[in-house]
Amino acid sequence: MAKVKDVLQALDELTGGRCVKDPTDWSSGKNRFVVTKTSNIPGKSCTEIPGLVWGDPEMEVRKIAVCMTVTESVIELAAATGVNAIISHHPACDAANFGGVLMKTYLGLYHLAFFELHEALHGTHPGIPFLHGHKPFFTDVNYGGIPGNVVNVGNALPEVKTVGDLLDRLDGLIDADMDRRMLSLERRERHSDGLQETAVAACAKILVGRRENPVKQIIHIHPHCGITAAHLEQLCRDNPDADTVVASISHVYPGNELLCKAEELGLNFLCGNSHALEIFENGVPLAYALRKALPECEVVIFRERQTAIPLDEVGSPAIRAYGQSIADQYLPKK
Ligand SMILES: [Fe+2]
Ligand SMILES: [Fe+2]
Repeated sequence: MAKVKDVLQALDELTGGRCVKDPTDWSSGKNRFVVTKTSNIPGKSCTEIPGLVWGDPEMEVRKIAVCMTVTESVIELAAATGVNAIISHHPACDAANFGGVLMKTYLGLYHLAFFELHEALHGTHPGIPFLHGHKPFFTDVNYGGIPGNVVNVGNALPEVKTVGDLLDRLDGLIDADMDRRMLSLERRERHSDGLQETAVAACAKILVGRRENPVKQIIHIHPHCGITAAHLEQLCRDNPDADTVVASISHVYPGNELLCKAEELGLNFLCGNSHALEIFENGVPLAYALRKALPECEVVIFRERQTAIPLDEVGSPAIRAYGQSIADQYLPKK
């Protein structure tokens, strides 16, 4: 039977020793994957601790859940389905990721161990470029001197000859059509034509260029990491054969400076997988690696599915009447 400490060892081995193994390890600055992220808003920073964040190393683990971000839904699903250990890609903080309460009380109640593995997992595999149809020959994780500004430049895979090939390959890999079918089914069953879902709303799409345009060399960026139009211009100067920009994890929208620059430079511009699909890009490989390391454990994927529902179409008629009556009677404090 595997224990929590075995899960930590497996995570450490699959990242080549990047996890925190000793409590003094993370405070001493020895581990470069212990990173504090802050927008300089007092009290809102988060320190990533690759490895075990909460849990008894000697506790037995029979079932592991791999998720992207911990939420109250993740914790409730884990507890209700016999999960012993949650492994989250994105780092978590007290209250913010634990339904407004302390992780030790919430996880303690359900006897759940909790691990996080974010920057320590990044850069361990070439999966995201592969899914987006290219093989990188240049990678920078701090492009322009900005920490975490990941840029890859790669040659298109042999099967990717046009912009349309790239889009179709990506859609096929993540089964975008299934998400579209699930959304239409949900809209029909819930009698809500206005219902939206992330994977469909933020699907891969071509923003500049035509499907038949050839693709030979791809500049792959992640707009939320701080890349600028000047960076894109420099990347083009350094890679004169680049003909296509792919933005993934985050997308861009009309008016964005990166899009304007791509148009000016005559580049194709595609939005690839959004952040909502990172569970496939990083979560699924991590889950397979864990199952290989700990074959006695069941490993499940927690896939988040976020929907937006027009207020007058949410829930049952009774719950809408409840919401209206509470709002009317109690919420305007005059
Ligand atoms: Fe990530
Ligand atoms: Fe992410």
